[in-house]
Parts: sequence; structure tokens; C-alpha cells
Amino acid sequence: MSSGSESRSDAPSLLETRGLVKEFGGLVATDDVSIDVKRGERVSVIGPNGAGKSTLINLITRRLDPTAGDIVFKGDSIVNLKPHQVVQRGISKSFQTASIFPDLTVMENAEIAALAAENGEFGFNFLTHRDKLTSVHELAENTLESVGLLSRAGTTAADLPYGDKRRLEIGIALAAEPDLLLMDEPTAGMSPEETQATVDLIEEVKEELGLTFVLVEHDMEIVFSVSDRIVVLNRGRVIAEGTPDEIRGNPDVQEAYLGGVEL
Ligand SMILES: Nc1ncnc2c1ncn2[C@@H]1O[C@H](COP(=O)(O)OP(=O)(O)OP(=O)(O)O)[C@@H](O)[C@H]1O
Ligand SMILES: [Mg+2]
Repeated sequence: MSSGSESRSDAPSLLETRGLVKEFGGLVATDDVSIDVKRGERVSVIGPNGAGKSTLINLITRRLDPTAGDIVFKGDSIVNLKPHQVVQRGISKSFQTASIFPDLTVMENAEIAALAAENGEFGFNFLTHRDKLTSVHELAENTLESVGLLSRAGTTAADLPYGDKRRLEIGIALAAEPDLLLMDEPTAGMSPEETQATVDLIEEVKEELGLTFVLVEHDMEIVFSVSDRIVVLNRGRVIAEGTPDEIRGNPDVQEAYLGGVEL
């Protein structure tokens, strides 16, 4: 188990963004953002609506091209890679509803995710890779077990309740066996019960898998309970960075993020 931030500060970076800029026309959505995520660290990115949080995530997954700057993962620049290549390098993003195939079963969804991670999206020839299929099935099974969906393996994904769908999305992200899991507002649109189940799942992922993650989340209770470190964005810029305690007491953050309301 990694413990304490002292040991982490010397650890090599898993992910670094360097001077990342993204402009949409005249709007600077991401403005010179440099963040550094160590292996095993859980980092949350917070900030008001339009602060540039999703843009930052989409730059890291390479769904958006930066206007300037670099993204370094495991020591190599990934700025010229395609989204599926980034997945193969070890970065998964959860909570894209589009990642579920509604007409396929829960198990088939998990298997496709495992296959895609090993072989690139749909670039796989089943006939020449038969021996791999067993391990893909095992990986899918383990993944479903870890998100509590093994008992629903045969259910058509479209028939899952909303909360289970979200768990399947996490499962799909985990089936890729990522080194880094990115989550953008995982509890958006959830009932209080589903939110709690998702927070429990994030805690499990944190404790049992020891996974490094970057979480974008508006719910401060969740942010403070799961994060080692918090990065605060406002108008595309990093305005503060620190432990939950440091951020809680930071007046700039309170001003920018909550208009002066106590965190
Ligand atoms: N594809 C796009 N084209 C043009 N402008 C965009 C695009 N995507 C985002 N923006 C703008 O960039 C800014 C940052 O948006 P972004 O979605 O990253 O914010 P956010 O912090 O994720 O906000 P929220 O908390 O509402 O999800 C906003 O002003 C937004 O309108
Ligand atoms: Mg967003």
C-alpha cells in the first residue's frame, strides 16, 4: 500500500501535462495547464462550470487536439497518438455512456473492452488469436466481479437499471487494465442511492486495485473523501492545488468556485 504524500512526491510521474492550451476560436478553454499525477495518486479536478475540466480530460484521452503544450504518460509524449492508442498505453476513461453496446450482454460488453484494450479498437482477427480468447474471457469475468455485475453477465446491457449501467461503464474502463482511470462527473444524473453506490465503488477501486485516477466531480463531499490531491481550475487556469485540507481552507478557491460559500 502506498501511504502518505512524502513517499509519493519522489515517485516518478505517471501523467504530466505541460503548458497545455486548448483554444476554441477565440475562447481559451485550457490555458497553460501543467499537472503532474504520480502512480498510485488520486487526483480530483474541480472548478466552476466552463472552467475547462472536461476539455482537459478530452485532451488527455486525445479526443481533442491541444493548441499548444505536451502530454507525457509513463515518460513518453502521447500528444500524437490516437484515442485507441492511448487506451492501449494504459489510460481509460469511464462514464462515457457511449461506451456501452446496449444490445449486447453485460459479459459481451466486458469482453469487447478487454479485446479492444489488447488489440486496438476492432482491429482484431478472431481466427488467428483463438488462444487469447480464454484469457480475454477470464479478464472480462474478473472485471465484472470487481464491479459487482458478474451475476448479471447474461443480462442485455439496455435492460440494466441506470446505476448498474454506470457500474458497467466502470467495468468497461477497468477491463482495459488501465494504469490511469479518468472519470468525468461519474455521479451526474444519479439518485442519492446510486451516487452512494458509485462512491463506494470508487473507494473499492481505490483500496483494492490501488488504481491511479483523475476524477472530475462537482460533489465536494465525494471530492474530499476520495482525493489525495485536488487541482482547482477557473477559466482554464490552475488557480490552486493541494490536499483536501489545503483546498478546503483556500480563500481563492472559495471565491472562484463557490462565490465565497464555506467549503
Ligand atoms: N467543442 C467545443 N467547441 C467550442 N467551445 C467549447 C467546446 N467544448 C468546450 N467549449 C467551451 O470551453 C469552455 C470549457 O468547457 P468544459 O466543458 O471543458 O468545462 P467544464 O469545466 O467541464 O464545465 P462543466 O462543469 O459545466 O462540465 C466552456 O466555455 C465551453 O463552452
Ligand atoms: Mg465538464
